[in-house]
Amino acid sequence: MDSINLNGIQIAAYVFASILFILSLGGLSSQESAKRGVFYGIIGMALAILATVAGKEVHGHIYILAAIAIASVIGILLARKVEMTSMPQLVAILHSFVGLAAVLVGFGSYLDPKTAKLESTEHTIHLVEVFIGVFIGAITFTGSIVAWGKLEGKIMSKPLLYPGRHIVNIVLLVACIVLGVFFTMAGGTDGMMFLYAMTGIACFIGIMLVMAIGGADMPVVVSMLNSYSGWAASAAGFMLGNDLLIVTGALVGSSGAILSIIMCEAMNRSFFSVILGGFGDVSSAGPAVAMEGEVTALNHEEVADLLKEAKSVVIVPGYGMAVAKAQYPIFDMVQTLRKAGKKVRFAIHPVAGRLPGHMNVLLAEANVPYDIVLEMDEINEDLPETDVVMVIGANDVVNPGAQDDPSSPIFGMPVIEAWKAEKVIVMKRSMSVGYAGVENPLFYKPNTEMLYGDAKVSVEKIMSFLKA
Ligand code: TAP
Repeated sequence: MDSINLNGIQIAAYVFASILFILSLGGLSSQESAKRGVFYGIIGMALAILATVAGKEVHGHIYILAAIAIASVIGILLARKVEMTSMPQLVAILHSFVGLAAVLVGFGSYLDPKTAKLESTEHTIHLVEVFIGVFIGAITFTGSIVAWGKLEGKIMSKPLLYPGRHIVNIVLLVACIVLGVFFTMAGGTDGMMFLYAMTGIACFIGIMLVMAIGGADMPVVVSMLNSYSGWAASAAGFMLGNDLLIVTGALVGSSGAILSIIMCEAMNRSFFSVILGGFGDVSSAGPAVAMEGEVTALNHEEVADLLKEAKSVVIVPGYGMAVAKAQYPIFDMVQTLRKAGKKVRFAIHPVAGRLPGHMNVLLAEANVPYDIVLEMDEINEDLPETDVVMVIGANDVVNPGAQDDPSSPIFGMPVIEAWKAEKVIVMKRSMSVGYAGVENPLFYKPNTEMLYGDAKVSVEKIMSFLKA
């Protein structure tokens, strides 16, 4: 086959892969079509790799295939081993790989002797692409590693704020722009030292931007880094002259940005404040409000009795449900209650758990029907007419301090107003705080009762009393 035909086939494959990626994103927008979306994504990616590796400009196939085989084995082993509760960490670390890849492609592309032969304007454009690509890649690389550390609990989730940090960030940004000018003006590979200096500064900016974000805002940071990794991939596409990488990167970049905006709106946060490392953030001012009231607890039998008497029950699942893998016994309990004629529904907060849609995925895994799984906005107005709210392994997403304590780091975030129900049962192992690290006044309310213990074990015990 001659090179023209090969090029034509490659372009056709790239267009087809792009369509599959768009269908994949469309599929992932709802639970019913999510599996189909993943399938389209896999086929699209396989096609993209095949078309790229078969390209006439690619040599050393044996090494490429060996690298793909080794990476695939590592990927499969990791994906099988990772717990659902650790998925956010995995996602964060994968974003860091994309950032690192963009940095390496940038350096490789700069040193590539072929690029030195480009015409002067083309050469300057190429240098700008390299510089911007390495800059975004380096921020994504270190920012994602810090995000991984925060999600894994290796780095404190409290924001690291120091006076004048925004000035420092702006000065560093200006320094990068100046380095960029010197870099594009340097002849041959003399610009290398400017590229090294900018990479170091960008790595530092990535660390400081994510260090400045508090625990409760981490969901937005994860989706924002997802967006950055897309733009880093797109930049790598420009450097390599690969149209599919440009399109795919832009798809990831823009969908990540849209998701970040949606999450910011759901959490009542300013998008720019979060992406600029808490710029202009005035919340969490003043001393924390002391908890008032008494904490009271029930046993499993008493909870079962409350459920037997209730006509309407709302379950608010949170990260603890994921840890305990309690979704299966919870659905058994829901079925038992529904058979007894009770109205039972789930209330899902947009940032419950540690991943967008975390609770929805777990409930779908346990075959919970979609029509009884409601979003926070849909359920909040029904809560004053609800007999029992069972908060199962959730904490921050039901914290009333988000509405009435301006000193709280989560002040302003919309929450599920569980306390408005007649009775609230909070099921967790202890009085410890949630991811945002703040006390929860809900536990001290007169209509709240604690049920201590692992969520799965507790639900199973309640079931034994419900069936008795
Ligand atoms: P959290 O506020 O993190 O609270 C979870 C609670 O589950 C903890 O207080 C813990 O208390 C309890 N728990 C843990 N293991 C348990 C078990 N085996 N059985 C029963 N309870 C258990 O969770 P949430 O309410 O879902 O809120 C999510 C938080 O994570 C928010 O602050 C959110 O901003 C943040 N975040 C979310 C995301 C996304 S995208 N969803 C990403 C990053 C961060 P005990 O230790 O006392 O049991």
